[in-house]
Amino acid sequence: MFEWSDKFSINIRTIDTQHQQIFALLNELSICCQSNNVSPTVVEKALIQIKAYSNKHFMIEEKLMQSAKVDEQHFRIHRMEHQSFVYDVNHFSVNGLTQQKYIDATEKLVCFISNWWTYHILGFDKSMSAQMFAIKNGATPEQAFEQHQQIKLDAEVTRLMISSVLDLWRTANSQCRQLEKILANTKTPFPKL
Ligand SMILES: [Fe+2]
Repeated sequence: MFEWSDKFSINIRTIDTQHQQIFALLNELSICCQSNNVSPTVVEKALIQIKAYSNKHFMIEEKLMQSAKVDEQHFRIHRMEHQSFVYDVNHFSVNGLTQQKYIDATEKLVCFISNWWTYHILGFDKSMSAQMFAIKNGATPEQAFEQHQQIKLDAEVTRLMISSVLDLWRTANSQCRQLEKILANTKTPFPKL
């Protein structure tokens, strides 16, 4: 189960509430996977809810950054992060998988989503919130960005961040290996340079 704690709070109530809702939806998906008789329809429904809620949340967060006049450098990279999540989750497919492989794939997806959110909230969202508060207190967007693009983390939060980054890296690494296998077996010759 993915437990919400104050460590994830960015001190903006609407955003904290939405993050808590994402954790709740992720727990629903995780519970689905623990049942042996899980059907693709149930997983698909839980996944659709997570995607729809995340999309709505990203739009709200991006509008909030724009109205707070957060520095363009932070805004652009933060939005790219959101877009990369949408891309990765949209490309998840369980079509044609056997029951066990399909449960395994869904568990991997749950793991990816939870790591992604852990890393994103503790890094990007906390930095965004710190910049927004600094701007409210009189800093220019550039000053706020310079001061808060890196967040000071305590030991526990650092441990959580490292663990989620390592898991994300392992997932990316295994996807690269699968891609290498596919490329090695492909009959299409590489174009001559
Ligand atoms: Fe975000």
